[in-house]
Amino acid sequence: MKIAFFDTKAYDLPSFQKFGEEKGVEFKFFETKLSPDTVSLAEGFDGVCVFVNDVVNAQVVDGLYERGVKVIALRCAGYNNVDIGRAYGRVHVFHVPAYSPYAVAEHAMALLLTSIRRIHKAFNRTKEHNFSLVGLTGFDLHGKTAGVIGTGRIGRVFIDICRGFGMKVIAYDKFPAENSGIEYVELGELFERSDVISLHCPLTEETYHLVDKNAVERCKKGVVIVNTSRGALIDAGALLEGIKERKVGAACLDVYEEEADVFFQDFSGHIIDDDVLARLISMPNVIVTSHQAFLTEEALAGIAETTVGNIAGFFREGRCDNELCYRCGEVERCRKERREKCF
Ligand code: NAI
Repeated sequence: MKIAFFDTKAYDLPSFQKFGEEKGVEFKFFETKLSPDTVSLAEGFDGVCVFVNDVVNAQVVDGLYERGVKVIALRCAGYNNVDIGRAYGRVHVFHVPAYSPYAVAEHAMALLLTSIRRIHKAFNRTKEHNFSLVGLTGFDLHGKTAGVIGTGRIGRVFIDICRGFGMKVIAYDKFPAENSGIEYVELGELFERSDVISLHCPLTEETYHLVDKNAVERCKKGVVIVNTSRGALIDAGALLEGIKERKVGAACLDVYEEEADVFFQDFSGHIIDDDVLARLISMPNVIVTSHQAFLTEEALAGIAETTVGNIAGFFREGRCDNELCYRCGEVERCRKERREKCF
């Protein structure tokens, strides 16, 4: 089992090497992302292992198929960057459905607390021996309303955390969980009632720019928007306008629509071309982290173990419970109902 591993970061190596050796999966680590320009690197490999910003569009899927690549192993939960419809019948696609929802939910709360209690400001001030408190006034989370969009694995953990803070929680989900004790409301009502909005749904055609100009207009003045899910859930231009108009009180972003060009890289000595991102970062009430919500030891080990297990299971036993399939109509249903290859 020879796997071409794209977009390799130093933190990937220990866990993937360890689990790869244990299961007989041999990785060749490439720093470059998978894209139409780099798909030729997959020649001679049984599979590719990709992350959130690798481009696996129809052209890349065809390129992999032509080269005899049999599997695309995503080492993440989201799969919006893969043309799964195109892959069906050509290349099998696996993902890591769950690996520590706590990592992401806890990061969302860390961003929220940092923002509303101005910890990022205070940290910089005291480093320079500035002990003034002026401008650092925050607000209590206790008693405030959190609007959670997407009540799956991560959204539910975030709800528990919010409840621990004494917040009232309302939620919107296209598929509300029955008997969950969660108060579901329509999306518009969620925008109108929430003091804090946190996004935990996948990026699909339907959820693209879910937070747009209209949504921002419906929000409460001073709303705090937290996004640890996928950047394109938010129209970044509309968010920026909302901040400039003082409608949005703060934004906490672990993901950004155009992140593929900048996130995970050191641009400290360079000029950032993306004006919207640069302007957002310059705002005192915006915190940006570069897609690091998943980055805990527990999550990294879980990701590597499941990804290697997906690959080894597929080639050894001819099945993978985490296969994504379009034949069923719903991408993840095979995982629940079938115990064999999707095609
Ligand atoms: P999940 O699949 O357990 O939950 C997603 C929820 O969204 C489900 O309840 C589903 O019904 C709901 N949903 C689907 N379509 C919807 C729609 N149109 N409107 C509203 N809700 C909808 O997924 P999980 O594990 O909770 O992950 C959520 C998202 O978090 C992932 O899709 C991924 O994009 C993101 N993520 C980000 C990470 C990071 O490091 N920043 C790491 C891991 C995941």
